[in-house]
Amino acid sequence: MAGSGSGGTEDVAGGKSRFDDIYDRPDPRMYFGRLAPLEYEIPHHAQPVFRQASAERAAFDDGCPGRPAVLDVCCSYGINAALLNHDVTLAEMYERYTSPARQAMPTTELAAQDKEFYAGRRRPDAVPVFGLDVAAPAVRYALEVGLLDAAFTDDLEQAPPGPALSRALAEVGLITLTGGGSYITARTFTALLDGARRPVWISAFVLRTVSYQPIVRALDGYGLRTTLDVSRTYPQRRFTDEREQRYAITAVRALGHDPAGREESGRFHSLHYESRPGAR
Ligand SMILES: C[S@@+](CC[C@H](N)C(=O)[O-])C[C@H]1O[C@@H](n2cnc3c(N)ncnc32)[C@H](O)[C@@H]1O
Repeated sequence: MAGSGSGGTEDVAGGKSRFDDIYDRPDPRMYFGRLAPLEYEIPHHAQPVFRQASAERAAFDDGCPGRPAVLDVCCSYGINAALLNHDVTLAEMYERYTSPARQAMPTTELAAQDKEFYAGRRRPDAVPVFGLDVAAPAVRYALEVGLLDAAFTDDLEQAPPGPALSRALAEVGLITLTGGGSYITARTFTALLDGARRPVWISAFVLRTVSYQPIVRALDGYGLRTTLDVSRTYPQRRFTDEREQRYAITAVRALGHDPAGREESGRFHSLHYESRPGAR
């Protein structure tokens, strides 16, 4: 049942409202429609950071033939791929997918329009982007409109990668993540790194309510050193209600963060972690 007035469902995962019903729709309209009032904005903050990491990774000569691909984990409808490879902003995507003119349109027509829209905004420095998400309809849409070059629905929390993802992992040089830190654990990262064939860098935005330390430790075992940008936090979205806010304040305090001016002001905040190969 659709729950609290501001958009989450009444079901909660560890205190955070769940949005499972908007993750696996045939197109992104409900995703943007539900998240707009909550001002979900983390892909906007990630856009310049991922562009920079992607450019630096592409310029890094790892001795392997071909361009390294980006793998966006928890990619959903290909939002980070859209923002990385196209001259488009998250605000424009919100406007596009919540516009009254597009609400009654069949998905096939929206997909045809999107294909043209993104092709027209493709950047000259576009890189190959693969997507991984358990929501099959979402990644199918992203693939259909040309945002992803390949898409996979393996749930690496449950099982190792299947043959198609295993083959694709050989090309991956950068893993990106927004909005997925509450869903995946070190299991997903170790499964991806076990299959890697070229140096993999990781750029991840993770809520302050979640500890990234188990993942940092796991990455260390693969020779990846993680740096945290302590200079700032990134607002992710408004809380659905007071219950969610109380949960977040307690969770960030338990992890040693100060909620003043951040979670206490009504929004989840994320931290940015960057992992690259380095000396111990
Ligand atoms: C909040 S959305 C984030 C989507 C997108 N990255 C963004 O920031 O707009 C979280 C996504 O994680 C996906 N997800 C949940 N569990 C997963 C898992 N085990 N492996 C991969 N994706 C998962 C969901 O299907 C959903 O699309």
